[in-house]
Amino acid sequence: MNIIICPKCLKKHSVDIAKLPDVDIVNAKCKACKHRFPVRLDMFRKPQEAEFETVAKPKHARKICVSLSKGGVGKTTTSVNLSAGLALAGFKVLLVDTDTQGQSSYMLGKTPHAGLTELLTGELTLDEVVVEARKNLWVLGGGRSLADVKRLIDKKSFGAEWTLTEAMADFDERFDFIIMDTSPGWDQLTVNVMFYANEILVPVALEVMPLHGLSEFTKSLNSIQKYRKDISIKYVLPTFMDDRVEQPKQIQAKLESLYQGQICKPIRYNEKFASAPSYGKTIFEYAPDSSGAEDYSCLVRKVANDSMLLREFSAPVVDGWVRAI
Ligand SMILES: Nc1ncnc2c1ncn2[C@@H]1O[C@H](COP(=O)(O)OP(=O)(O)O)[C@@H](O)[C@H]1O
Ligand SMILES: [Mg+2]
Repeated sequence: MNIIICPKCLKKHSVDIAKLPDVDIVNAKCKACKHRFPVRLDMFRKPQEAEFETVAKPKHARKICVSLSKGGVGKTTTSVNLSAGLALAGFKVLLVDTDTQGQSSYMLGKTPHAGLTELLTGELTLDEVVVEARKNLWVLGGGRSLADVKRLIDKKSFGAEWTLTEAMADFDERFDFIIMDTSPGWDQLTVNVMFYANEILVPVALEVMPLHGLSEFTKSLNSIQKYRKDISIKYVLPTFMDDRVEQPKQIQAKLESLYQGQICKPIRYNEKFASAPSYGKTIFEYAPDSSGAEDYSCLVRKVANDSMLLREFSAPVVDGWVRAI
């Protein structure tokens, strides 16, 4: 059997593709939301199962950090909901909280007894600190104790920026995605995240001086890129979009001209984001019919579709994606 995932509502459908017509692409219709989308069948009909694995699933985790030096722009909200959405789509996801506020686990209704601190100090192993939060979704908690870790990293005489990379070494092959929530500002831990991740997702709040925050961030990133070539801004995600106000539209247009290839569809302003965490729920669980759930589904689709592209897949990218079970 195979699973076809609706790119709109993320509902999974079990399908035996051997029973479908012998064509390369079929038009599927989601039984739940009635959305129609094309699905590639040809890649499933390749001779060896193993070959499919290399097409549909990255061999090493994609390491995406959600970062911007400013606070309150939607970093934690994005990290949590992007991770949860990718997990719902069937990917194995690890969410790493590198913020001293430790909100990512809280937003998922978890209070891990240990986390990144114990891993970085070597007190506990990876398997001991990771907590299963949902199906396909694991969390490595942050929190106040990370402040001590920063001091510890500062004291290292060499190789300090690789501390996180060394600690996470065994995790690459176990997950499809490692998503990192970061704290505002720049410190040794942020630098460590930048040395570990490959892709950056920058949430830009369409509220106060967003472009200033972004250009400050880009400057700091440039200094990292001198030493770490394979990290770059992959996604710029406008957040707090309010259609009724003129200014955000102008900022959005400016962002589109500056970051053409990287810009994502904006996340609209929605009050449900503020109330979901106190129930320990993601936006998909708390308000599945909200604009917030719709907007984050859109981001999940974009990021997931890029995984297909990463496999140097020469055929056109399609809306739906399929996984073998
Ligand atoms: N699109 C949105 N619409 C309305 N409120 C939001 C939105 N995104 C995030 N929030 C709320 O704004 C506050 C800051 O978001 P958060 O994700 O914690 O930002 P950061 O991690 O960058 O500090 C939180 O209370 C969150 O619930
Ligand atoms: Mg945060």
